[in-house]
Amino acid sequence: MVLSPADKTNVKAVWEKIGTNGAAYGTEALDRMFLSFPTTKTYFSHFDLSPGSAQIQGHGKKVADALAHAAAHVDELTGALSSLSDLHAHKLRVDPVNFKLLSHALLVTLAANQPEEFNPAVHASLDKFLASVSTVLTSKYR
Ligand code: HEM
Repeated sequence: MVLSPADKTNVKAVWEKIGTNGAAYGTEALDRMFLSFPTTKTYFSHFDLSPGSAQIQGHGKKVADALAHAAAHVDELTGALSSLSDLHAHKLRVDPVNFKLLSHALLVTLAANQPEEFNPAVHASLDKFLASVSTVLTSKYR
């Protein structure tokens, strides 16, 4: 997945707008994923999965921070996400299909919270960005 210069500009602009809402958006995206795609809950059997639980909020912030880090290092995603890639592929063994589900939940969350910015071009750029992040996080899965 190759992001064009315009894609990178769109991704960085969206993440600047997200600002301090990252944790809230990450939490909403996880709640959406667990409710819409219940099979994803199997990876989080040690969590309190009631919507907005303290554990989901804590994890939502971690996911949002990781995506902000990725947006800031969009030209070097493999290196920037190396330890997270080891974690998801080797330790957690998250099946790659789940990354499409979280990416979908993240896109819906952004569209619902930032409708003014979420035009078709930005939608496409964010989709490519999340697909690139997912490719790195699943690249070591066997
Ligand atoms: C955009 C894609 C994703 C990003 C950016 C991401 C990011 C993260 C981060 C930052 C952590 C915490 C690492 C740490 O504590 O050192 C984490 C842990 C974890 N991730 Fe992901 N993740 C993604 C996709 C997924 C998916 C699709 C699943 C499964 C459906 C998943 C399951 C988990 C689990 C089970 C943990 C450990 C939670 C815990 O025990 O605290 N991740 N992820």
